Parts: sequence; structure tokens; C-alpha cells
Amino acid sequence: MAEQQVLLEAQGITKQFPGTLALDNVHLTVERGEIHAVMGENGAGKSTLMKVLSGVHQPDAGTIILEGRHIAPGNPRDALMLGISIVHQELSVVPALTVAENIYPGRLPVNALGMVRYGELFNRAADVLQTLDMNVDVRDPVSELSIANQQLVEIAKALSSNCKLLILDEPTSALTEREVEILFALLRKLTATGVGIVYISHKLDEVFKLTNRITVLRDGKYIGTVNTPETTPADVVRMMVGRPLEALYPPKAKQIDAPILEVQSLQLTPHSPANSFTLHKGEVLGIAGLIGSGRTEMARAIFGADAKHTGTISLNGHVLSIHSPTDAIRLGIGYLPEDRKAAGLFLSMAITTNVEAASLPEVTSGGFLNSSKERLLAEKYVRQLDISTPSIEQEVRRLSGGNQQKTLVAKWLAIQPKVLIVDEPTRGVDVGAKSEIHHLLRTLAEQGVGVIMISSELPEVIGMSDRILVMHEGAIAGEVLAAEATEETIIRIASGQDNTHKRKASALE
Ligand SMILES: Nc1ncnc2c1ncn2[C@@H]1O[C@H](COP(=O)(O)OP(=O)(O)OP(=O)(O)O)[C@@H](O)[C@H]1O
Ligand SMILES: [Mg+2]
Repeated sequence: MAEQQVLLEAQGITKQFPGTLALDNVHLTVERGEIHAVMGENGAGKSTLMKVLSGVHQPDAGTIILEGRHIAPGNPRDALMLGISIVHQELSVVPALTVAENIYPGRLPVNALGMVRYGELFNRAADVLQTLDMNVDVRDPVSELSIANQQLVEIAKALSSNCKLLILDEPTSALTEREVEILFALLRKLTATGVGIVYISHKLDEVFKLTNRITVLRDGKYIGTVNTPETTPADVVRMMVGRPLEALYPPKAKQIDAPILEVQSLQLTPHSPANSFTLHKGEVLGIAGLIGSGRTEMARAIFGADAKHTGTISLNGHVLSIHSPTDAIRLGIGYLPEDRKAAGLFLSMAITTNVEAASLPEVTSGGFLNSSKERLLAEKYVRQLDISTPSIEQEVRRLSGGNQQKTLVAKWLAIQPKVLIVDEPTRGVDVGAKSEIHHLLRTLAEQGVGVIMISSELPEVIGMSDRILVMHEGAIAGEVLAAEATEETIIRIASGQDNTHKRKASALE
């Protein structure tokens, strides 16, 4: 009886990359109808294990048994035919193709002449999207969708085949809370039909809300599997990092100094709201708000990445003229973007190239790149941020997601900014590395850098900031002191239901 419950059994999986033993004798069993979390710090081997199960990588040792039969998927198509679908951590949609073509890549319905039957394709795709409660036109190119919707297209693609085992590698990092709820409801519905789900996430609250069991990996090794209702977040963290984690957030600023950055009546278009705020030396200023509330747009306008309509930006009392990111960087303003893949990193280049990308004058002499200066710079930040890599020459796409994020942080630290704006700085980063990035931001603030942190994770905004601006529909709708803020207050301001924090804002400035 128990035997028949088991859907997938992976035993003794080992995978060696040049310089890295990514998986060392790892086990995983997934039962029918189960949601099974795989957790572990950045670089623990989670994605690699999923790539082995889904045919992207072939293991050096180990066996995979699906429904009692040995399988050895040689490529993702094989795995798909066997009923194993994966939604990868990094988006893999093709932006120029329509939503429908992305859902059925290489499996388009054709007529006798080999021509794609678009009507049928669009109808089928629309059906799949309906199960996801997704409101987009299947004829639209994917490039026109938000990141969240692109992610949902990936999930739709995974579900469009006859799927027995569904693997989701950090699927919610770009989703809003409502979208997460829809996804969870869908996953629960799927399990009722006997599908087994492997769910990778760094978010403990999600894992405890959603999953039946948790398997923990550390440094490529199998640590153990526990029943979710019988364990606690603290226990799981201990399994992941091998030690209990100290205080989650660093202490707040003891004192806030003079203003460093002043933004006055910043308007992005003639019809958008005018926003003003002041950032002080030594302060971490949080910016909260729903996805689409204008946080990123405001940051990009300050950084010169997007044009602004009117408004002034002053640094240490001098009005700046910023027309491009180059201007901003030269003046000492850094911006770490939310989408590391599209806007932040050169994935196919070395760590070195990425770290120095925004500070080339630092590593050139006489107009040429100076390789020992390059090396010193990269090595300094690899050490300081504890980026786990066999060498500074490693291509960034070969790093785990969290170590990619640390490389992006390094790039912006290297410009030695006076003001650093970070947009979702810990997305996809594990508990240990997250706490390192938090302490690092706080240390920067203590050294006199003004830090602006945009984050959708409310505990992070409250835990990290000294002061929090809350945006709603393009406007700064309220301001609260982090020490007095609750998640509830922020959500109310962010959804436009609370105006009482407006006056306090100007009083504080
Ligand atoms: N294609 C590759 N070539 C070389 N090394 C790789 C490759 N893919 C992964 N690695 C290495 O294998 C280790 C495990 O990486 P993996 O991506 O599985 O980690 P992860 O647990 O998914 O981490 P994260 O939480 O950051 O996504 C890391 O040290 C990584 O640098
Ligand atoms: Mg991963």
C-alpha cells in the first residue's frame, strides 16, 4: 500500500561540475499528491538536483525511479514525455513569441501542410490560462507582460503537458501576494489529482503554509527530510545553515545625520504625482508599496535610467543634473535593479567583468584595463561578500541564484557610492546570505552612505529601515518610522485605505 504512494524516488544522486561537487549522494522521494519542499542555502544544490530530475543534467551516479520504473531522462523533452515538468528559477520564456507559442514550444498543432493551426493553438492556450485565473491575451507577445505574468506563462507551459511530477524552482519571487494565493490554490488542486510537486523556496512562511514535507540540502549533501507539521522554522534553519542563526536584522541607526539626498517635486510625466522626500546620511530609507505602485519607476528616474518630467535632485546641497546612469554613477549614486538577469548582470561573463562593470576608471591605467587591479577588486568583494565560486573567472550564469545576487551587490559597492538605491536586494537569496546583505547595507549606512531600499517583503522593510515611505499609485502616500510600523499599517497605506500618515511625513522632514 505505502509502496504505491511513492511517485518518484531519487537515490544517491551525485553531480560534479568542474571545481564544484554540486550534489554528493543526495536522496529525494516524492509521494503522489504531495507538495515537497527542497530547501538549503544558496549553492546547496537544489536547482542542480531539479535539473537532474528534469533531464537538463545527467548525474554522475545515482538512480531515479518514477512509478516503480528506472528512468534516465537524457534531455528536458524526455523528461516531459515521462511526465516531469519544471519551471526554472530563471525565466526562460521567449519574449518575441506570443503567449500561446510560449506555452506550446515545439509542440504547435499543425495542419497537413505543416502550417501552424493558430486558431487551435490560441484556444488550447486560453484553456490552460483559464485554469490559472490569468487575464492576458494569448496572442500578445510575452515581452509585453509583467514579470509576474511571464512567470505564470512558464507555469502554464509546465501544466500544458500530461504532468505527473511538477517542479517549481522559486516560483513566487516575482509574484504579488494575490498571485501567490492563486498559485497555491492551483497547486493544491493539482495535488488532489495525484500530481506530486517539488517546491523550492527560500521563504519559510510559504513552505510552512504549503508543503507536506521538507528535504534539506547543505553544500551538496543530503541533510534530512522532515514532516512539515512536526517541525519549526527554527529547526529547518538550523538544518540549512548547520547552526542557529543570531538576530535576524542588524540594529537600527543610533543617529541620523544631515540630509544627503533631496528629491523635490519629482514628476515622471506631466500627469503623474509630484513626489518629494529627503534621505539622510547614515539612514536606511525603506520604500514599500504594491508591485506597480511606482517604486522602481521613481528609483530609475533618480538614477537617470528613465526620463523625468520635472523636479530637482540634490546631493549634499548641490542640485544635480542627471541625464543618464553614467551621470548618476559619476556623482556617486548607485542603483541595484530588481531584475538581475535583464538589467543587472552580464551572465555569460566572468565575476571580475561584472564586479568592475560600473567602475572601470578604478581598474584602468593609461586607458587599458589593468589585470592586477581587476583581480584585486574582484577578489576583495568575493571575500567580503563570501561569494561561493571556484574562481573569480567563473561565468556568472554558473553561479547559484543567490551568489549571482551577491555579485550584483559587489558591482555597486565597487563604485563606492554616496547614495545606494537597492531594489529587492535579497530576492532569491537564502537566509544566511540575506542576513549578510542586510548587515552589509547597515554597515554602509554607518559609514555615511545613504541607503534607499525598495522591498516587497514587509518584514524586511520593517526590520531593515529606519524610516519607510509607502507608495500608492505613483505617489508617496505615507511615511512611518520603522520602529513604530506594523505590516498592517503599511498594507493599509499601500492600498490607499489610510491617509493619516501623510501629515506626519512632512513633519518629519
Ligand atoms: N552549469 C554549472 N557549471 C558549473 N557549476 C555549476 C553549474 N550549475 C551549478 N553549479 C554550481 O553548483 C553548486 C550548486 O548550485 P545550484 O544552482 O544547484 O544551487 P541552489 O541550491 O539552487 O542555489 P540558489 O538558492 O542560490 O538558487 C553551486 O556551487 C554552483 O555554483
Ligand atoms: Mg537555485
